[in-house]
Amino acid sequence: MEIVNIDAMQAKRALITGITGQDGSYLAEWLVGKGYAVYGIVRRVALADPERRLSRLRNVLPNIQLHAGSLESYASLHNVVEQVRPDECYHLAAQSFVTYSFDDEFSTFNTNINGTHYLLAAIKGVVPGCRVYFAGSSEMFGKAEEVPQNESTRFHPRSSYGISKVAGFHLTSNYREAYGMYACSGILFNHESPRRGYEFVTRKITAAVAAINAGRSQELRLGNLEARRDWGHSRDYVEAMWHMLQQPTPDDYVIATGKDHSVRDFVELAFSHVGLDYRQYVTTDPAFFRPAEVNVLCGDASKAKRAFGWSHRVEFEDLVREMVDADCRALATAQNSAFL
Ligand code: NAP
Ligand code: GDD
Repeated sequence: MEIVNIDAMQAKRALITGITGQDGSYLAEWLVGKGYAVYGIVRRVALADPERRLSRLRNVLPNIQLHAGSLESYASLHNVVEQVRPDECYHLAAQSFVTYSFDDEFSTFNTNINGTHYLLAAIKGVVPGCRVYFAGSSEMFGKAEEVPQNESTRFHPRSSYGISKVAGFHLTSNYREAYGMYACSGILFNHESPRRGYEFVTRKITAAVAAINAGRSQELRLGNLEARRDWGHSRDYVEAMWHMLQQPTPDDYVIATGKDHSVRDFVELAFSHVGLDYRQYVTTDPAFFRPAEVNVLCGDASKAKRAFGWSHRVEFEDLVREMVDADCRALATAQNSAFL
C-alpha cells in the first residue's frame, strides 16, 4: 500500500511499530496532527486485508505510509529502517496479552525480546541518531513491594510477558549507555479506550454490557474481580510517549493516573451506566484466573509531570462511560467501535 499525502522531504519522520494496535492508532493521529511524516510497520497480511486489520487507522490512513515487516525478522526491520530513515521511532509492537504469555512463553519472548533487539540493532546500524521509544509496562513491577510504583521501584515480573518487558527495558537502557543512543522506556500503566482489544478485561466488560443491554446476551464470565489496576485513557498516554522523545536527554518515565480501582469497580460502574445491576449477570470462572496474578498496580507519574508537565486528563469514571457508550453505539449501528 502506498498512500502518501505527506511532504516527507520537509517533515520530521516518525516510524511506529504496532501502528495497527490501540496505542499505535492514537499515536499516528497525534503525530500526523503535529505535522510529522508518519510511517508504520505492519504485518504483510494486514496490507492484504485493510478493512479488518487496519480498522483502527481509518482516520489517518490517507496520511501515513505503511511498510510490511515482522518483529521475527531482523532483515525485514532493517529494510524498513533503511527505507524510512526515521528521526523518531516508537516501538509499540508486542505480544501484549498477559494471559496468552502463560500459554506460549516462547513466542512471547521471541516477539517481545528478539523483536526489540532486532529493531534497536537496525536503528544503531542505519540511523544511530534516531530517537527511540520502547513500550515498557507496569507489568514489570509485578508483585511490587511498594504502592505507588515509581521509576526506582524494583521489578518483580509475574509472567513471561512481564519478563519480556523487563528484558526490553534493559536492552533499551543498554543501547543508551553502551552506544550513546537516544533511547527511552515509558513504563506505562494500563490504558484503555473504545479501541482496546476485546481480550482485555475492560473491553470484554464494556462489550458484554452493550450486548446484555441490547438483549443479545445474558451472562459475563470473568476471572479475578479483586485485582486492582491504575486505568487511564490511551489518547492521554500516547502524548507522553512523544514528550519523552522531545527531552534534552533520554530517560525512563512512569505514566499513570495515580489512582487504582478493582475489576469489580469497573464492572459495577459499567453495568450501572446502563441501569443494570452487575450481580445479576456476572459470574466468576476459574478459567480466567491467572497462574500468577498481579494484585495491585498503581503508578506515581510525578517525574513525567516535573520533566514535561504530563498528567492524565481522562478520569476512570469518564473512561468507563466512554467505552460503554461506544460499544452500545457500535452495536446499535452494527459498526466496529474501534472506528470511533
Ligand atoms: P495492542 O493493541 O495489542 O497492539 C499490539 C500491536 O503489536 C499490533 O499493532 C500488532 O499487530 C503488533 N504486533 C504484535 N505482534 C507482532 C509481530 N510479531 N510483528 C509485528 N507486529 C506485531 O497493544 P497496545 O495496547 O496498543 O499496546 C502497545 C504497546 O504498549 C505494547 O507493546 C504493549 O505491550 C505496551 N503496553 C500497553 C499497555 C496498555 O495498557 N495498553 C500498558 C503498558 C504497555 P497486529 O494488528 O498485526 O496484531
Ligand atoms: N483479560 C482478562 N479477562 N482479565 C481479567 C478477567 C478476564 O476475564 N477477569 C479478571 N481479569 C483481571 C486479570 O486477572 C488482571 O488482573 C486484570 O483483570 C487486568 O487484565 P487485562 O485487562 O488482561 O490487562 P493486564 O493488566 O493483564 O495487562 C494490560 O496492562 C499491562 C500494563 O499493566 C496489557 O495492556 C499489557 O499489555 C500491559 O503491559
